[in-house]
Amino acid sequence: EKGGWPSFMAKEIAEEPDAVANTLRGRIQDGAAVIPELSDLDELLTGIDRITIIACGTASYAGQVGAYAIEKWARIPVEVELSHEFRYRDPVITPSTLVVSISQSGETMDTLMAVKYAKDAGAKTLSICNTQGATIPRESDGAVYTHAGPEVAVASTKAFVAQITALYLFGLHLARLRGTLTSAQQAANLDELADIPGKLERVLESSDSVAQLARWMSDTRAVLFLGRHVGFPIALEGALKLKELAYIHAEGFAAGELKHGPIALIEAGQPVFVVVPSPRGSDEMHKKVVSNIQEIRARGARVLAIAEEGDAAVLPFADEVVRIPLAAPLFEPLLAVIPLQVFAMELAAAKGLDVDQPRNLAKSVTVE
Ligand code: F6R
Repeated sequence: EKGGWPSFMAKEIAEEPDAVANTLRGRIQDGAAVIPELSDLDELLTGIDRITIIACGTASYAGQVGAYAIEKWARIPVEVELSHEFRYRDPVITPSTLVVSISQSGETMDTLMAVKYAKDAGAKTLSICNTQGATIPRESDGAVYTHAGPEVAVASTKAFVAQITALYLFGLHLARLRGTLTSAQQAANLDELADIPGKLERVLESSDSVAQLARWMSDTRAVLFLGRHVGFPIALEGALKLKELAYIHAEGFAAGELKHGPIALIEAGQPVFVVVPSPRGSDEMHKKVVSNIQEIRARGARVLAIAEEGDAAVLPFADEVVRIPLAAPLFEPLLAVIPLQVFAMELAAAKGLDVDQPRNLAKSVTVE
């Protein structure tokens, strides 16, 4: 079933271009995002004034990435919360709140209970799910399926990029309904999205060098991950992958937070992955991250930068640079996450661990 791959995880990472392409299929019509499953919900989606995204683990990081895009495009406030936290804090929910749950399995008990809670409190609910007919989409007012195909490895990979893709489509669907982007802007963003599968293929071509890096680092005791804006949830996801697969202490930080505490962790030889935002997005943000790199390097950090092709500013300070193809800044997370998935998988493999079935974890967490 692994089709010649050493693990399901390796196979599923290789399937990421298809996961994105299949999630887009049939949902771009004449330069506009049209999600046929939502065709009955136009009135509901025009009337909402707030979105709360709920999810756990990797799905919650997809939600965090999606929130930047939905707010920017549809000009609607979006908050992201862990399902188990949401439910127990008496959140403000009104009939014009849309609660969007994200779940690969569609069976995660924490998320299911949060969806039921939101419904009882009067919210409208939408499920983004990878498993046809699962409990969470059945409990929701609407469902948008990701078409990543079955994910077998415990660690989520292809479902994550499919979730971001579905959230971006949803953001553009909302922007069309609510008139917050021009047709040209909608089409330009959809062109970017349509280009992602091809770019993912190119990112996958650099997997060997990432694997090499992971093998060199197989006795590392702790790894830090820094990112900013949409790169921040990617840093969190990189850290989660390394913890769950390689049992290595790992933490992700917002790069801007470094000087507020985490920089104290930096000592000679400490590996730090930095997701570098494109200089073509916000030049200011790019400069700030490059200066973060200089700060940690000056304190002895071993800097592993993930940066777009042609970004020369990182070269003098980074020990290793993993290149990703150029994409509009909001779309970079879809590319930047791959080297981090590959790194965690290869490091776990180098340690002789079971990549598909890490200790203490289950694919579908059906208890609260
Ligand atoms: C991490 C991972 C988990 C899941 C989380 C939610 O690699 O797989 O963090 O993302 O348990 O699962 P679903 O998406 O099935 O609700």
